[in-house]
Amino acid sequence: MFVNFRRIRKCQFMQLMTTCLVLSLVMVCWEQLDNSVVSHVKSYSYRYLVNSFTYINKSLTIPREQAKSFSNFPYLLDHTDKCVSKDVLLLLFVKTSPENIERRNAIRSTWGNETYIQNALGVTVKVVFALGASQARNKVPSWSKRFGFQEQLIKEDGLHGDLIQQDFLDSFHNLTLKLIMQFHWTHNHCAHARFLMTADDDIFVHMPNLVSYLQDVSSRGVTDFWIGRVHRGAPPIRSKDSKYYVSHEMYQWLSYPDYTAGAGYVVSRDVADKIYHAMLTLNASLYIDDVFMGICANAVGVSPQEHVYFSGEGKAPYHMCIYNQMMTSHGHVEDIYNLWKVATDPQVKQKTSGLIGRLHCAAVKIALLCKPYYFNTYPCKAAFL
Ligand SMILES: *[C@@H]1O[C@H](CO)[C@@H](O)[C@H](O)[C@H]1NC(C)=O
Ligand SMILES: *[C@@H]1O[C@H](CO)[C@@H](O)[C@H](O)[C@H]1NC(C)=O
Ligand SMILES: *[C@@H]1O[C@H](CO)[C@@H](O)[C@H](O)[C@H]1NC(C)=O
Ligand SMILES: *[C@@H]1O[C@H](CO)[C@@H](O)[C@H](O)[C@H]1NC(C)=O
Repeated sequence: MFVNFRRIRKCQFMQLMTTCLVLSLVMVCWEQLDNSVVSHVKSYSYRYLVNSFTYINKSLTIPREQAKSFSNFPYLLDHTDKCVSKDVLLLLFVKTSPENIERRNAIRSTWGNETYIQNALGVTVKVVFALGASQARNKVPSWSKRFGFQEQLIKEDGLHGDLIQQDFLDSFHNLTLKLIMQFHWTHNHCAHARFLMTADDDIFVHMPNLVSYLQDVSSRGVTDFWIGRVHRGAPPIRSKDSKYYVSHEMYQWLSYPDYTAGAGYVVSRDVADKIYHAMLTLNASLYIDDVFMGICANAVGVSPQEHVYFSGEGKAPYHMCIYNQMMTSHGHVEDIYNLWKVATDPQVKQKTSGLIGRLHCAAVKIALLCKPYYFNTYPCKAAFL
């Protein structure tokens, strides 16, 4: 009897303690909750109920003369004849920074090797690197360092002939300028390429899969095509600590128009042209480049489509059954050589085809992609395609 009584009291005490703990956790986390949960609820409501982004277009439209200031930087490195008189399937811009020479070299000798693509896949893909001017200009000792960097870039460009560089400071907050440069350059020098892609320099592109997919899309004569990992109803981040902080002055609405993750997306020729024209009259001071792309597309009535094998921030699991279908995967630097080798091995196609191969892969993909706690990859539904 006495023992029981004590046990009950202990139990109540534990309950009380747990309640206190939970309450204090909620209080501590409230701000976090408020920032993420509440802003998402608002933003989804805006996206799905109000869904009127026409105001955005109106309020960001500025006179052409003023919009020019976002695009008229002189070119420091350029290759205006890259695409001349060729049937280009894909023009692929890799967003890079002056110091990332190792990433560029890795891309050149793996998925971005134009000669390999021409020989092995029988199509012309042009891979060029978009960059601004070196940051070192602002640091001490400024002059020597900046020219050192630029000299190295000129040397690198002499070897490979694939750097497109404009004279704006290469920084995170100038990514939108880099985006605008890509669309301007395409309009001026490669408007006949059937597709335009923009990608980060730490991305892996499964070029054979991408080429055969784009050939298929092209043969069906698809227009208004914009594909990637889609963000729908994403709210602007108002917390000043965030890298993606956007002030009310810069963007006043509760939700961004739909856009694809900047890690890698593809548009068709007609979309590239429309976006170029939208860029001529929009205020590009919003520095999140993929969101700005969404705003431009919204202004010309183009909306993005989801492809489950395009990754956003996520890195694909290493497995043959994934390589068979993957398009892009984000966050690859050191492993890019090895991934390129294993992902394009002819054995992959052999082992993943046939009834047994397909059944095996279906099970593997469910196991790899449908874990409830594993967000960093392709969505679960990719396992069923
Ligand atoms: C690109 O591929 C070709 C042919 O496959 C090869 O000869 C060349 O060395 C490769 N380039 C680089 C930079 O690896
Ligand atoms: C963007 O580039 C311009 C031109 O070089 C420069 O004046 C400006 O400070 C840069 N902005 C940021 C945020 O780096
Ligand atoms: C563009 O927007 C910024 C705010 O994000 C504003 O300060 C600037 O004046 C605008 N530019 C023009 C030309 O209206
Ligand atoms: C966006 O604004 C421009 C200029 O105000 C207008 O010409 C264009 O039709 C608008 N687009 C949409 C989709 O409302």
